[in-house]
Amino acid sequence: MKPLQIAPSILTADFGSLADEIRSVEAYVDWFHLDVMDGHYVDNLTFGPSTVAAIDKVTDLPLHVHLMISDPAKFAPVFVDAGADRISFHPEVVDDTHAVIEIIKKAGAGAGIAVHPDIEIDVVKEHLDDVQVVLMMTVRPGFGGQKFLNDVVPKISQAAQLVQESGKSADIDIEVDGGINLETVDGAVAAGGQIFVAGSAIFDGVDAPGAARRLRERLDRVGKGSE
Ligand code: DX5
Ligand code: ZN
Repeated sequence: MKPLQIAPSILTADFGSLADEIRSVEAYVDWFHLDVMDGHYVDNLTFGPSTVAAIDKVTDLPLHVHLMISDPAKFAPVFVDAGADRISFHPEVVDDTHAVIEIIKKAGAGAGIAVHPDIEIDVVKEHLDDVQVVLMMTVRPGFGGQKFLNDVVPKISQAAQLVQESGKSADIDIEVDGGINLETVDGAVAAGGQIFVAGSAIFDGVDAPGAARRLRERLDRVGKGSE
């Protein structure tokens, strides 16, 4: 079984102390998940490549940029130059998913398909030879702090099964994004999740390192349980 990993989303972090927030949880996590929103694909606007570049200077952990934007082909290379190690995008906004995957990989990052809660998992089927991550959204894109959508759990299992049947289990991570906390993470693991995005459950303005440590301890326990 692959190690279970944590990717905190910085969306609800204190942007006035972003470097401190990032450093405070580094010991317990494996990636940072950077939610880029353009106010078109979603009704929210977050940050751009300069923020990603600033974060890349603060941490040596890999950065997964989640593009919730209407033109991922245009901006993916800019985010790779800023330091993104992986880039996921939403296929429903592009004409040629394969072409965008190729643009991301040619720029030097790993490519991922982000699956909106309303989008069928079949959207990933023909791309399993080319992607490194399938990002299963368990909230509606746009905002941190939303409730985990339990209805998506069967779709996570379908994604895990598709990846397994493709023979690409070693090459593709199943990442679960949205509403992950100590109450929801066990179900996400059982469904086949391997990397867990947690935003408001970690950057809650109370005790980010403690929350990250508790989630790490939970995943270590759950991971042992399934060996
Ligand atoms: C939502 C983002 C998620 C979300 C995670 O559009 O893609 O990454 O912010 O934050 P929480 O864990 O608070 O749902
Ligand atoms: Zn995200």
